[in-house]
Amino acid sequence: MKRILPYMLILAMLSALAGCAKKPEEPEARSVVVGFSQLGAESSWRIANTASMEEAAKEYGFGLMMENANQKQEKQIDAIRSFIAYQVDVIVFSPIVETGWDNVLAEAKSAGIPVILVDRMVETADDSLYTAYVGADFYAEGRRAGEYLVRKADALGMEHVRIAEISGTLESTPMRDRQRGFMDVIAGDSRFEVIESICGDFLRSKGEECAAALLSKYGKDGIDVIYSHNDSMILGVLDVLEREGIRPGQDIVLITVDGEKEAVEALKAGKINCVVQCTPQLGREVMELVKGLKAGKKIPRVSHPDEGAFTDFDDLADPAVEGF
Ligand code: AHR
Repeated sequence: MKRILPYMLILAMLSALAGCAKKPEEPEARSVVVGFSQLGAESSWRIANTASMEEAAKEYGFGLMMENANQKQEKQIDAIRSFIAYQVDVIVFSPIVETGWDNVLAEAKSAGIPVILVDRMVETADDSLYTAYVGADFYAEGRRAGEYLVRKADALGMEHVRIAEISGTLESTPMRDRQRGFMDVIAGDSRFEVIESICGDFLRSKGEECAAALLSKYGKDGIDVIYSHNDSMILGVLDVLEREGIRPGQDIVLITVDGEKEAVEALKAGKINCVVQCTPQLGREVMELVKGLKAGKKIPRVSHPDEGAFTDFDDLADPAVEGF
């Protein structure tokens, strides 16, 4: 018995230590501070994305310094400078547009603070200015929208398809790539004509304004398809069409991107024809990368979530067809 006792003691100590094995939310981890510059609150997508970042930081036990720039690039630059002054561990930011970040990112680099881009990309000649990107493949989203349209035009036997595009914020990654992906699919098919592309800044109110402007210019019989770069804008379009006695989804085919609940409900009601998915739930992936960086691990340069599309060709009673 005497010989067994020391072993039992060691075993008890080991299991106590195992119980203390570090989980992300434990006190040591809390000393990690993430500076997060969110670009605004322009859509339900953005609001869900902010919540995802906050929840994930809490779950991982990281401190989160968050600044919302209300759509102003200068405010994002100020926020990043304040994170550098505070010497946060990692800077995460969602750039409103792609250009104009080189100086501030070079400052972060000289301060030795890694930068993770979330949701949107920057355009820079120096790729070492950021460590990783987490966000959608917007080009693939644009292609999905175009592929849906080709299928719809085939199904309806449409010979000449007049498309009005309502774009997101000019020079932002989703605007550029959703447009490029869509155009690449329909280019070369003589049935399709983009009659106009106007900017709705990802805002529901501007979506309404764009719809009103399009209708007064082309009339209700002059547009076959509206392709909107996000749900907020298409929901604004929907309001206008219904007010004007136009049947959305029937008189005009509506294609949108995101997957918020209200848009998915409208799809199920036959008022929207296609919702290309874009998930705002990026927080966990970002915090996982922060954890990896703090542990000195090599982290993936680009991470895209898995996404698809919900369309009027699908079984919309499927419980998997749901919004956020
Ligand atoms: O960058 C992602 C886009 O920004 C979303 O599609 C849109 O809703 C948001 O405002």
